[in-house]
Amino acid sequence: MKKATAIAPSNIAFTKYWGRKDNILRLPTNGSISMTLSDLLTTTTVEFSPDYQKDQVTINGGGIEEGEAKRVIKHLDRVRNLSGINFKAKVVSKNNFPAGTGLASSASGFAALTLAATAAAGLNLSEKDLSILARQGSGSACRSILSGFVEWLDRNTSQTSYAVQIFPPDWWDIADVVAIFTEEKKDVSSNVGHKAAQTSPFFKTRIVRMKEKNRKFKEFIKERNFDKFGQLLEQEALEFHAITLTQTPYLIYWTPGTLTTMKLTRVWRNEGLEVYFTVDTGQNIHLFVEGKNIKKLVSELKKLDGIKNIIVNTPGEGTRLSGNHLF
Ligand code: PMV
Repeated sequence: MKKATAIAPSNIAFTKYWGRKDNILRLPTNGSISMTLSDLLTTTTVEFSPDYQKDQVTINGGGIEEGEAKRVIKHLDRVRNLSGINFKAKVVSKNNFPAGTGLASSASGFAALTLAATAAAGLNLSEKDLSILARQGSGSACRSILSGFVEWLDRNTSQTSYAVQIFPPDWWDIADVVAIFTEEKKDVSSNVGHKAAQTSPFFKTRIVRMKEKNRKFKEFIKERNFDKFGQLLEQEALEFHAITLTQTPYLIYWTPGTLTTMKLTRVWRNEGLEVYFTVDTGQNIHLFVEGKNIKKLVSELKKLDGIKNIIVNTPGEGTRLSGNHLF
């Protein structure tokens, strides 16, 4: 049987997917807009073979938790169903960044698994079909299939809920500078968080505003209006965290490092460095600047106590095949 390897990027949501109208199919309550990241990558090799007695999954050189393994095997089953292949598979995957810390490792992970497994099974799916399949493994993974600036369409069925490119990577010279403070894994996965989002008394209020926010993001990206883009980015991040903080049970993802940096962005702006933040379900913070300001921001970040790593991402390429197999 054929062996296939895929490299998939993570992505950062400008408008967040939080809460679902269908938990099994992973249909989100709202559409979302993201940027594919150039430097946060997962590489995955998959091989189906009659020689394997069971599915084996290795991530970053080690085994994985039972729940995670089940989710991967379920995804392999989807590919087996589509292709008619019944063999078990060997999956080896590695990230070039810490998993489970708010850097969307499930997005890059399931995007890479989707392309590697379908190619290994001899399928040649379109971007749309890869996006639909990736979404069923992890919602945000459907956006990681595409390059540049991406929209996950607001639709009601599995076959229509997928992501499309809205602008190519070279459309806009901006960067997402990720500041890593701790590499500890978060204690509640976003998969669990989504299911409780609707318990927040503010959930409905948020959802009513999402269509207009998505429309505005597309307009600001089209106009390359960094100031308006950045203000909306922060507003949306805070509205999203207002839901996580008020759902039952509540989720507090920020650590002192996150909060200090959030507050600092305003100080830096007052000093003339135009920078805006967004934060996902984890402690690490994403800071947006125009290309000309990357160096200045990185030198400010290096001065901070407790900073472990800084990763500069530009609008990146989507999920692709690679000839460099991991086994
Ligand atoms: O795809 P999941 O289940 O890991 O959820 C992603 C949730 C956020 O990262 C917080 C938002 C998003 O749209 O990526």
